[in-house]
Amino acid sequence: MSTIDLTGRDFLTLRDFTSEEIEYLIDLAAELKDKKKKGIRVDEYRGQNVALIFEKTSTRTRCSFEVAAHDLGMGTTYLDPQGSQIGKKESIADTARVLSGMFEGIEYRGFEQEIVEELARYAKVPVWNGLTNEYHPTQMIADMLTIKEKFGRLSGLKFVYMGDARYNMGNSLMVACSKLGLHFVACTNPQYFPNEELVNASREYAKESGGSVTLTDSVAEGTKDADILYTDVWVSMGEPESVWEERIKALMPYQVNKKAMDYAKSDAIFMHCLPAFHDLKTKIGKEIYEKYGITEMEVTDEVFESANSVVFEEAENRMHSIKAIMAATLKKSSY
Ligand code: CP
Ligand code: NVA
Repeated sequence: MSTIDLTGRDFLTLRDFTSEEIEYLIDLAAELKDKKKKGIRVDEYRGQNVALIFEKTSTRTRCSFEVAAHDLGMGTTYLDPQGSQIGKKESIADTARVLSGMFEGIEYRGFEQEIVEELARYAKVPVWNGLTNEYHPTQMIADMLTIKEKFGRLSGLKFVYMGDARYNMGNSLMVACSKLGLHFVACTNPQYFPNEELVNASREYAKESGGSVTLTDSVAEGTKDADILYTDVWVSMGEPESVWEERIKALMPYQVNKKAMDYAKSDAIFMHCLPAFHDLKTKIGKEIYEKYGITEMEVTDEVFESANSVVFEEAENRMHSIKAIMAATLKKSSY
């Protein structure tokens, strides 16, 4: 019987959670996934409602919150990037207090981490970070669950992040890996290394967990004998289009391609939070091709579609892990 109780807690960044608490959420996600596959209903949150605020667009996170909430017996209200008063006519503090009167939990996806922190400060119910510029913590539970499913463990694995390591995904993965005993490597152009404060904090976490944090600009060294190669888009939501040129120039050497996969172990997996630019089947992918002549960006289509790629299992795990996060932080209904 676990002694961990996360009821009433916000979920804003994994920095606020111990390794044991994170492992508890990963295991709960695995348990809820198993129950869903077996058709065992877990809906003890009947009659509750959650608000889903999205100031940036989403496929996976929104669908995961909606499906997970419905599976748990809850109702959802989606507030889209244009459709609410938030930030324009009403402050975050006022929004938090209004929504606290109607909902049992609030998800927020948006810009600065400070905004979700402020929302949580004023809300009387749990607040879950569905992605900010700095962190994407719900993605971490899904990613670690996926790795655990593949390797049967987390501790001791070599995890290599290539590309823009100074944004939400690089930051969050460095924190998650260092808290859970993985060997995290940011393998990229030094301009895109995570910030020093977070690197130092993560190195402290790694001391406790037996993991490590390495920054390198060498693809050969960084990816050598890796268990996991991970990347994300080079330009994130909310960044200006004008940065594409510098990103392509700086990060193309850190594309996850066959050569990088060949340095890694033969059973290494490829991961990506998605969406990914690996072909010309998207509007932006086509525009970039017309402007810069490249057909693939952070990952080649060959790697994305290979047997080593686990991206769609990873995407499915978003739902199971978001369900775990809501189930752990909300009180069960009394009827
Ligand atoms: N990985 C992820 O957060 O995807 P969405 O932007 O589609 O939610
Ligand atoms: N870094 C990406 C992650 C998307 C899930 C972004 O913020 O757009």
